[in-house]
Amino acid sequence: MTVNDASQLRDCDVVVSALGESKLVDTPDHDRFAEFKFTRTQVPLVAKMLVDNGFHGKLVDVTNPCDVITSMYQKLTGLPKEHVMGTGTLLDSARMRARVGEALKVDSRSVVGFNLGEHGNSQFTAWSTVRVLGKPVTELAEERGLKLSELEERARQGGYLVYQGKKYTNYGVATAAVRLTNAVLNDARTEMPVSNYREEYGTYLSYPAVVGRDGVVEQLHLDLTPEEEAKLETSATYIKERLKKEEERANNLAQAE
Ligand SMILES: NC(=O)c1ccc[n+]([C@@H]2O[C@H](COP(=O)([O-])OP(=O)(O)OC[C@H]3O[C@@H](n4cnc5c(N)ncnc54)[C@H](O)[C@@H]3O)[C@@H](O)[C@H]2O)c1
Repeated sequence: MTVNDASQLRDCDVVVSALGESKLVDTPDHDRFAEFKFTRTQVPLVAKMLVDNGFHGKLVDVTNPCDVITSMYQKLTGLPKEHVMGTGTLLDSARMRARVGEALKVDSRSVVGFNLGEHGNSQFTAWSTVRVLGKPVTELAEERGLKLSELEERARQGGYLVYQGKKYTNYGVATAAVRLTNAVLNDARTEMPVSNYREEYGTYLSYPAVVGRDGVVEQLHLDLTPEEEAKLETSATYIKERLKKEEERANNLAQAE
């Protein structure tokens, strides 16, 4: 392995962005955007290094706020949209499946289903997509008295709980990043909820896609309930507004210089 030899980026298959300053996340409202004041200054530098060195592989973003940073990377590098992905709610979906598995005393790997939208506070569990024990979880919830909203909240808060305990999170997100990277390197064509550009929402957000050597090789179309569709629109609008604000800020800064 060679460290810090940027010229090798030309031959790189995958670059993972995990830069950050995670201590900034320590805010009362646990907002992943708290870190943005740092990451928005670094991402353009990394993007420039990728472009200057002829990187033309797949880019996996872990850096927060994940969906906005993934969008910034795509715009700044000019790479095809399907070659730039964020780990998004891959991690949050795993947390949700773990909570459902615990509640039903089933291995979380036997639970399928997705958290959608922003890797942040506007994400939600699309319960209509969750199946376990051969049934939709909504049916099992009625039969066995599961409180889905409580499971959802515990999954959403999962990252903060780990953060409060250790002041960083590592294993979960690293597992998600490795899974996504391996899907590219092995051309696995695995279906996973990653941050990918969805034309109909006009933004990067987490929605299941098939990932292989060419990045996002197919996008799924879920039969969401009207309520879930509305939540996804709200999440998309939030991401777009934050990105727009950042682009305006960067433009004003450039004009002032
Ligand atoms: N998407 C997710 O699911 C998820 C989960 C956990 C953490 N994160 C994010 O991942 C990022 C990293 O988290 P962490 O806990 O490792 O943070 P950290 O603060 O412990 O480490 C960040 C590292 O990035 C380095 N860095 C900063 N600017 C750089 C640059 N321009 N080039 C190269 N390296 C640079 C720093 O020197 C530091 O070593 C953060 O943005 C964090 O919020 C995302």
